[in-house]
Amino acid sequence: MATLDLFSLEPAQPANPAKLRLLALRDQLHHLGHAYYVLDAPLVPDAEYDRLFQELQALEAAHPEWVTADSPTQRVGGQALDVFVSVRHAVPMLSIRTETDTESTGAEAFDARVRKELELTPADPPVEYVAELKFDGLAMSLRYENGVLVQAATRGDGEYGEDVTQNIRTIGQIPLKLPAGVPPVLEVRGEVYMRRDDFEALNEKQRDKGGKTFVNPRNAAAGAVRQLDPGIAAQRPLSFFAYGLGEVVMAEQGGPAFSTHYGMLQTLKSWGFPVSALVDTAQGAPELIAYHQRIGASRDQLPFDIDGVVYKVNSLALQQRLGFVTREPRWAVAHKYPAQEQVTRVLGIDVQVGRTGKLTPVARLDPVFVGGTTVSNATLHNLFELRRKRVRVGDSAIVRRAGDVIPEVVGIVSSGPRTSYVPNFRMPRACPICGSTVVREKTEMNHRCSGGLFCSAQRKQAILHFAQRRAVEVEGLGDKLVEQLVDTNVIRTLPDLYRLGLTALASLDRMADKSAQNIVDALEKSKQTTLPRFLFGLGIRHVGEATAKELARHFGTLDAIMDASEEALLGVSDVGPIVAKAIRTFFDQPHNREVVEQLRACGVTWPEGAAADAGPKPLAGKTLVLTGTLPTLGRDAAKDLIEAAGGKVSGSVSKKTHYVVAGTEAGSKLDKARELGVAVLDEAGLLELLK
Ligand code: IVH
Repeated sequence: MATLDLFSLEPAQPANPAKLRLLALRDQLHHLGHAYYVLDAPLVPDAEYDRLFQELQALEAAHPEWVTADSPTQRVGGQALDVFVSVRHAVPMLSIRTETDTESTGAEAFDARVRKELELTPADPPVEYVAELKFDGLAMSLRYENGVLVQAATRGDGEYGEDVTQNIRTIGQIPLKLPAGVPPVLEVRGEVYMRRDDFEALNEKQRDKGGKTFVNPRNAAAGAVRQLDPGIAAQRPLSFFAYGLGEVVMAEQGGPAFSTHYGMLQTLKSWGFPVSALVDTAQGAPELIAYHQRIGASRDQLPFDIDGVVYKVNSLALQQRLGFVTREPRWAVAHKYPAQEQVTRVLGIDVQVGRTGKLTPVARLDPVFVGGTTVSNATLHNLFELRRKRVRVGDSAIVRRAGDVIPEVVGIVSSGPRTSYVPNFRMPRACPICGSTVVREKTEMNHRCSGGLFCSAQRKQAILHFAQRRAVEVEGLGDKLVEQLVDTNVIRTLPDLYRLGLTALASLDRMADKSAQNIVDALEKSKQTTLPRFLFGLGIRHVGEATAKELARHFGTLDAIMDASEEALLGVSDVGPIVAKAIRTFFDQPHNREVVEQLRACGVTWPEGAAADAGPKPLAGKTLVLTGTLPTLGRDAAKDLIEAAGGKVSGSVSKKTHYVVAGTEAGSKLDKARELGVAVLDEAGLLELLK
């Protein structure tokens, strides 16, 4: 008999073994999907999920009459539409009043209005609020009937939206089916958005094939949601956060009774919806202000864009008393942050040469305050993007800076009607640094300097790449020093780095004896490294940190990697034909092998094969979250140590988190850990665990 579990709404079914297997598979896949997409804590390897999925697909193919809309196999596969159908929202989708000042007065003004409306006196206690992020995506209303997703609609004008169910079904984070006991009619409202890393990867892909790039994650998400072909929508990675309810019809025998907004969000979470871990309660204006500042300080580190925070009165009874003014509730307000896009003038266009010789046009800008810092340069990516965006020196451009990403020009402010575009920038035919010929392969969007390591710009970048923190890490070897070392011809190749003596260093301009000694020490220290760091540091095209780790794990030794055929390389998860070819090409060049041999001869070394893996794994199966600044360990160093001990580092705290490692200025993750009763460690505690 199929047991009734959390995700099963069906009563015990006929004893047909195939049907029972199918029902069990669906439940299991719902459960695994929730762990993977929503909790970000996979319970089984991807291959196991795929195997179960394929088993379900096969059963459904043999019994099409058993296919139902809430099956995990039914996320993609709808027909392309001609138009979207308009739907009326049973409960209108409102907007919120916005406080545009980015100072604390916004929170104070809101609290004062709420207190006045509720006729509270200064003697009354503070009002309890819920503080949330204001996600920069698009509002969505998800309608569930008897626990099954039946409709997803955009906000539209608030009264009528568009039925985009087919596209929304493709979002792994959105449950197709809810656990037993949910209200028979339940509309969950929230924000569909695109993570920054997903957005960057999507644009990178578009750029590589010369396709249209998206201005920002919000536009990319909106475009995906309004795709008429759900097949295309499925290829645009979207995410979701729930923040409210629409129509709810309770069952006759009652149902969940919500009395607070916070309690409602926690219930939504228990039903499988993604709810941000940064939701918090706050007493009165001072705690709202503290939240605004705390989130503002960590805004760049969030994996997605926010344009502010939202404050809501927590008590639903008070919300009701406060009511609405026109289309805005009196019980909620949005409090903004500085914009991540600004308009400024393009003063000139320079060309920068990167590590792989890529020539990047960079706009020199009239300095502008955007996304929290002053920006005076912004990338234009390549010549084709520059032209597609119709950028000209002298024009007004829209500049975007969000997160840690390099600022970029996303478009031009057009003055009047769209006239023909006459560019006033040309890609140079010779490398502006070394004079070598600039080339571009037919299938490539990028121009490149053909000088290779003859080009000092490429040499500098290659050395900086090798010496960076995430690679072999030579502390203190910054761009100014590398510039000097390369320009004065002290260093011509990577191994020259390790032949640097104290005298050579100390004789450089503006170099104190002590700093020279520090560099020598740092170089010595860097010789003890790991295979993934070394591999990544070599700067092989398409081999990032993650791929380097996979390669090391798969092959165990550098020699095995250097000698692997393209076919053997393809056996590594993460490695496709382009990457395999790049690795082969790199090690086929005698010059590159020579560099590797010389580095080894200089004493650069790492544990290999069994030795790399043989260490004890005290953190196997454990998930840790890092927050705040640790006294001695950098974030990457802590992550490395944890991973080497078999643990996993996650970005958010959940019930599945085993430990939160907290340093100074730990934020909401620490609060969250306390709230959930997750063990909290300091650095010493972590080091103790690693022993
Ligand atoms: S609540 C009755 N909460 O902001 C209040 N909205 O003008 C209904 N938004 O487009 C909205 N994050 O999509 C609420 N945590 C949040 C939000 C949020 C983003 C968006 C929403 C709407 C706009 C409200």
